[in-house]
Amino acid sequence: MILIKKSSDLLSHISELKKANRIIGFVPTMGALHDGHLSLIESAKQKCDIVVCSIFVNPTQFNQASDLASYPRTLENDIRLLLSKSCDILFHPEIDEVYGNLLEKESSEDYGSFIHVLEGASRPGHFDGVVTVLRKLFLLVQPNQVYFGQKDYQQCLVVKTLIQRSFQDIVFNLCPIAREKDGLAMSSRNVRLNQSEREVAPKIFESLQLVAQNWTITNWELGLNQAQVNLQKPPFQFEYLCACDPMSLDSLTHFQSNAIILVAVQLGSTRLIDNILVGS
Ligand code: PAJ
Repeated sequence: MILIKKSSDLLSHISELKKANRIIGFVPTMGALHDGHLSLIESAKQKCDIVVCSIFVNPTQFNQASDLASYPRTLENDIRLLLSKSCDILFHPEIDEVYGNLLEKESSEDYGSFIHVLEGASRPGHFDGVVTVLRKLFLLVQPNQVYFGQKDYQQCLVVKTLIQRSFQDIVFNLCPIAREKDGLAMSSRNVRLNQSEREVAPKIFESLQLVAQNWTITNWELGLNQAQVNLQKPPFQFEYLCACDPMSLDSLTHFQSNAIILVAVQLGSTRLIDNILVGS
């Protein structure tokens, strides 16, 4: 694996690969890698000649300075994990390599109504930061295929829109959510949970499963209510658990067979999200 820190070095390396017609797969990350990230690398390895992973803790997508400062950084271990998956290139730039000396954000305001709900409402400006950094990274890496996790479902809709608008040659790949044995969705933030928080955290996925098991025209509202009640009790600080249309993210007012259930809760100082697709 080649470790590249400079944008100019990455550009010249990519230009050689392009000349040789190599298919480039790209997995953007913020590091603190776990099996969820690695499953994306594995998927990319299956279809692409060269897999590029980026590790860049993107300052413009954080709402709170404290969250940015305490975001786990585990580069040595990340390199070891990427080597074990035969990743070809790791791009790990400093902030000014990506942003110059101006941390400017582009707007995702007009991406559609889905941008303003759920994570968009809870984390104002977050998706502006995501599209800003992904545009910069896509221009540098020039991938044929990109790989994103369903774990961040709303982010996937944002990325698909960015691709439709500006990078029509890039193929988007949605990868399933990797979970711990007890169902907790893997996340770089899980290491911040203390023992008692970690013990109750599987209730998040259990609540999603409860909704999925009751996804019928007669039971869906009951299932949703029960799941919400489960996560409205301490130590959870409930943010949202809703059933939405998978494309528009409009909250459902009537039953429909295909839906996505999305959840966000705070456990102590850690914010966790998860989701499940229901229906045929
Ligand atoms: P990060 O949170 O590091 O996630 C990188 C990628 O890994 C995302 O596509 C995310 O959905 C995926 N991922 C995270 N946990 C997963 C899990 N349990 N199973 C499967 N995939 C999982 O998402 C970001 O970074 C950033 O916003 C980024 C896109 C890199 C832009 O800065």
